[in-house]
Amino acid sequence: MNPVKVGLLGLGTVGSGTANVLARNAGEISRRAGRGIIVTHAASRSLRSSINDTSGIKFTTDPQDVVDDPEISVVCELMGGYEPARALVLRAIANGKHVVTANKALIARHGNEIFALAREKGVMVAFEAAVGGGIPIIKAIREGLAGNRIEWLAGIINGTGNFILTEMRDKGRDFADVLAEAQALGYAEADPTFDVEGIDAAHKLTILASIAFGIPLQFDKVYTEGISRITREDVAYAEQLGYRIKHLGLARATPAGIELRVHPTLIPERRLIANVDGVMNAVLVKGDAVGPTLYYGAGAGAEPTGSAVVADLVDVVRTLTTDPNNRVPHLAFQPDALSSQPV
Ligand code: NDP
Ligand code: HSE
Repeated sequence: MNPVKVGLLGLGTVGSGTANVLARNAGEISRRAGRGIIVTHAASRSLRSSINDTSGIKFTTDPQDVVDDPEISVVCELMGGYEPARALVLRAIANGKHVVTANKALIARHGNEIFALAREKGVMVAFEAAVGGGIPIIKAIREGLAGNRIEWLAGIINGTGNFILTEMRDKGRDFADVLAEAQALGYAEADPTFDVEGIDAAHKLTILASIAFGIPLQFDKVYTEGISRITREDVAYAEQLGYRIKHLGLARATPAGIELRVHPTLIPERRLIANVDGVMNAVLVKGDAVGPTLYYGAGAGAEPTGSAVVADLVDVVRTLTTDPNNRVPHLAFQPDALSSQPV
C-alpha cells in the first residue's frame, strides 16, 4: 500500500521535531500504523527549519498550497495561534482532510466549531500534543480511564512555567533570565505571556476537563492566574517552610458543576508533584474505579511533542486502513454526545 502523505503547517520546534521523529522511526511507525507515513509538503513563513532530511518534501510559504493539495490526506497544524490556524484547519477539513494539531489555543477556543465541521465531513481531528507535550494524557483519560467516572484531575501542565520556578528555586536565577532560556530552548509559546500568565495552562485544562467530564470546551470559565508575580523571595520562603510553589491546573466535579482553575499553589515538598521539576509535566487523575493515577513526562520540546503528534498520525492512519464502517469514533471529539454541565 502507498504511504499516507502528510502536509505540515509550521516548521518550527514541533514541526521539525515531528518530521524528524517520523523519518528516524519510519520502520516502527509504518508497522504500527499498517502503512508508511511520509511528509510530502510543508509550509512556513520563512522556510527555516531544523528538519534533518528534507528530501522528498515540497516547501512553500503559502499554507493554503498545503491544505488545498489533493495528494495530502492528513494536515498537521503546527503553526500555533488562533488565526490563520483556525481558517486553515477549517479549510483542510472542508477539503476532506484529517487534521492533527498541537495547538491548544485553537482547540480550547474554536474546538467546538472545528469538531462540528469534522463530524459533518466525516474526518478526524486529533490533538494529543496539545496537552502535556509528550505525555499521552488525552489517550489515557479517553481510552485508559473510559470505564471511570472522573472525580478530579490536577497537574503541572505548563513546562515553561515549571522550568522557571525550578531554576528560581535551585539556582536563584531571575524570572526574566530563565524565561529567555525557555524561549531559546523552544519551550515557550510565540507570545510567552500565555505561559507566564496561565493562559496556556487554562487552554490545556479546558481540553482535559472537556474529555474527562464530558462538558463542552469552555475556556472562558477557567479561573486563570499565572506565575508572573512570583519572586525569588517567594520561592525561597516557601522552601524554608517545607513547601514548593507549583503552577497547577485543577478540574473537579462538585455538586454545583465542574470547577476549573489554574494558579500557583503551595505544595508540601514530600508530595510527588512537588518534585516534578524543569520542563517536566505531571497530571494526577482520580477515577472512581481505578483510584488516583499519575502521568509524567516532558511537557514541551521538539521531539517529545513530535512523539505525540506522530502517535496521532498513527491513530489516524490505522483508522483509515480499516473498513470505514468500523472506524474508531473516539479520535474525533464529539461535542454533541456531551452533557452540558454548568461550570
Ligand atoms: P514555532 O514558533 O517554533 O514554529 C511555528 C511555525 O509556524 C514556524 O515555522 C512559523 O514560521 C510557522 N508559522 C507561524 N505562523 C505562520 C503563518 N501565519 N504562516 C505561515 N507559517 C507560519 O512554534 P512551536 O513549534 O513551538 O509551536 C507550534 C504549535 O505547537 C503551537 O500551537 C504550540 O502551542 C504547540 N506546542 C508547542 C510545544 C513546544 O514545546 N514548543 C509543545 C506542545 C505544543 P516562521 O518561523 O517562518 O515564522
Ligand atoms: N509553551 C508550552 C509549555 C509548550 O511550556 O508547556 C507545551 O505545550
